[in-house]
Amino acid sequence: TDAKKIQLGDGKDKKGTRVRVFGRVHRERRQKEVMFVTLRDGYGFMQVILTGPLAKTYDALTLTRETSMQILGELREVPAGAHAPNGRELHADYFKILDVGRAAGGDDAITNRVSKDTEHATLLDLRHLALRGETASKVMIVRDAVEFAFNTVYKELRFRKVSPPALVQTQVEGGATLFKFNYYNEEAYLTQSSQLYLETCLPSMGNVYCIEKSFRAEKSLTRRHLAEYTHVEAELDFIDFGDLLDHLEEIMCRVLDIVMSDPVTKQYIMELNPEFKLPERPFKRMKYSDAIDWLVEHDIKNEDGETHKFGDDIAEAAERRMTDIIDKPIFLTHFPAEIKAFYMPKDKDDARVTESVDCLMPGVGEIVGGSMRMDNYDDLMAAFKREGIDPTAYYWYTDQRKYGSSPHGGYGLGLERFLAWLCKQHTVRDCCLYPRYFGRCKP
Ligand code: 4AD
Ligand code: MG
Repeated sequence: TDAKKIQLGDGKDKKGTRVRVFGRVHRERRQKEVMFVTLRDGYGFMQVILTGPLAKTYDALTLTRETSMQILGELREVPAGAHAPNGRELHADYFKILDVGRAAGGDDAITNRVSKDTEHATLLDLRHLALRGETASKVMIVRDAVEFAFNTVYKELRFRKVSPPALVQTQVEGGATLFKFNYYNEEAYLTQSSQLYLETCLPSMGNVYCIEKSFRAEKSLTRRHLAEYTHVEAELDFIDFGDLLDHLEEIMCRVLDIVMSDPVTKQYIMELNPEFKLPERPFKRMKYSDAIDWLVEHDIKNEDGETHKFGDDIAEAAERRMTDIIDKPIFLTHFPAEIKAFYMPKDKDDARVTESVDCLMPGVGEIVGGSMRMDNYDDLMAAFKREGIDPTAYYWYTDQRKYGSSPHGGYGLGLERFLAWLCKQHTVRDCCLYPRYFGRCKP
């Protein structure tokens, strides 16, 4: 045939072109003699019109949603006042259901299994089908664009990508959330963060980053905790704390610029999050101690229902109320050492606090955690002692402080949390392909 094979989102083809498309039935509707089929192929949607004898064939009359088909026809402009994806429709003169393509109907029809009314828990069991839905698929497509944009910006900034191990024998963020397993009869863990390994790359590779899975045995069910999540982590050499904050703002804004410069990605983001606006620069910067004062002023209580005081953890609920009221990104800095990880150095001017930062976003709260790193051997050893961590397993990490240590720092960004903010999703569970969290390891 002379029909050109195109993907459904291809926008360049002129009206009047004869084309051949493949896709699945996203929706169908009959209107007297005419049948309207919305076809979907992951690149876009296309309205297809079947008329005359074509609309009366057995296959047309019994057509079920999700059926895979091939359609040939001519692209035409939609009549004034009517709406169709890309302002065009395909007038079919031939269609064929693929041999393997017929989707179950009746009780087993996909619409009986996943719909707007299906309970969230069931939808999670049926994630493989829910992924075909518009919201889930758009979030996943935006996710791809965001991940790609991070890679692009890191390349522009001359960061090198590395791939640290997932199976490790050291903790990074506390023993409470370690997934332990038997590694050829030795105790090992699934990595909580690649940070320590990234630090070992600085001396010979310059600034480095990775986009890897991190694992946390979180035992609570929250909107923003997964057992397995995608962690965008970077480590920067020869910097100070101010440089770290500047870089963090720069990379987030550049990623957003790239993502929003692609028309399809932008369209999906605006459909998912109609109020989305690029954040204003510079981001608000707030010290932990000022945040405590702010929480006291706004009468937001701590986890024990008491007034916040210096030294308290700012828990998820309080943090989210704060970000929702302030309603823009916040760099929350200078946390007390007691509530932060062992590797964070003290602030030179205020020994109560560390050179640490969390980036908080409205609707989600913390999406980034970062800090400068203790670059001095003795400080690090003292920190291990304070935390009750046996330094033996960390010999490769402490060696970094023996052979040309340097002022350096870095951060980790939870990709699912970033997406929950960008795409205005209620939970991070809807921002990954197949979420893993307390009680769920399927599909
Ligand atoms: O604040 P965290 O624990 O910091 C670290 O792991 C550092 N070692 C990172 C670094 O400096 N290289 O985690 C960083 C981010 C959090 O801000 C959050 O966005 C995300 O990782 N995160 C989670 N996301 C989903 N589910 C969980 N259970 C998460 N735990 C952390
Ligand atoms: Mg954190």
